[in-house]
Amino acid sequence: MRIRYLGHSAVELADGTTNILIDPFITGNPVCPVKAEDLNPNYILVTHFHGDHVGDTVALAKRTGATVITTYDGGLDLEAQGVKTVGMALGGKRRFDFGLVRVTLAFHGHGEKGGHAAGFVVHLGNKRVYHAGDTALFSDMKLLNGVIEAPGIDVALLPIGDNFTMGPEDAAIATQWIQPKVVVPIHWGTFPMLLQDPSDFVQRVRTVGETRPVVLRPGESLEV
Ligand code: NI
Ligand code: MN
Repeated sequence: MRIRYLGHSAVELADGTTNILIDPFITGNPVCPVKAEDLNPNYILVTHFHGDHVGDTVALAKRTGATVITTYDGGLDLEAQGVKTVGMALGGKRRFDFGLVRVTLAFHGHGEKGGHAAGFVVHLGNKRVYHAGDTALFSDMKLLNGVIEAPGIDVALLPIGDNFTMGPEDAAIATQWIQPKVVVPIHWGTFPMLLQDPSDFVQRVRTVGETRPVVLRPGESLEV
């Protein structure tokens, strides 16, 4: 399974059969190295409806026919725009042709009335990937460490940019609690107000356990 970082919180997961885009903020993302036209997802997962997460979702879904998996309230709006949508809600999980998706808590605004921000655990290619979305640190992240996702998370994608989400200190605590095999920092370096250097996070992760920190620059991939 290949994880390609597209900058900010945009991530592509591919196992050779299925291509999943999470939070496809492509157009207008100053660090994204690809164009929306170059992406061909089967599924698009949207954690919440701030512009830096929903991004190109509607145009991508309409061009490719991709199914959008998101929270119920945000999904209503997408459906009204003619997008094929699967609405889920916090704590729910559902099996798709590629594997399972669990919707996790995220403590953050949703960007639409009545909605709630979320994260996802995606099972793809025998791996479990946690994309935290935008969130504060919260102690129920511990449940991902073998309680609700036994035997645990392979790769955690955690925001470290501070101001709108966890900063590096809190994201290192999250890593200690989740104990993924690999952690990749996201939501950093996109804009001047977001942290520009993930080395502090990497140092902190190295002191809190066995998790391997992997910093991906936009366009870089990780094989797991
Ligand atoms: Ni947000
Ligand atoms: Mn954001």
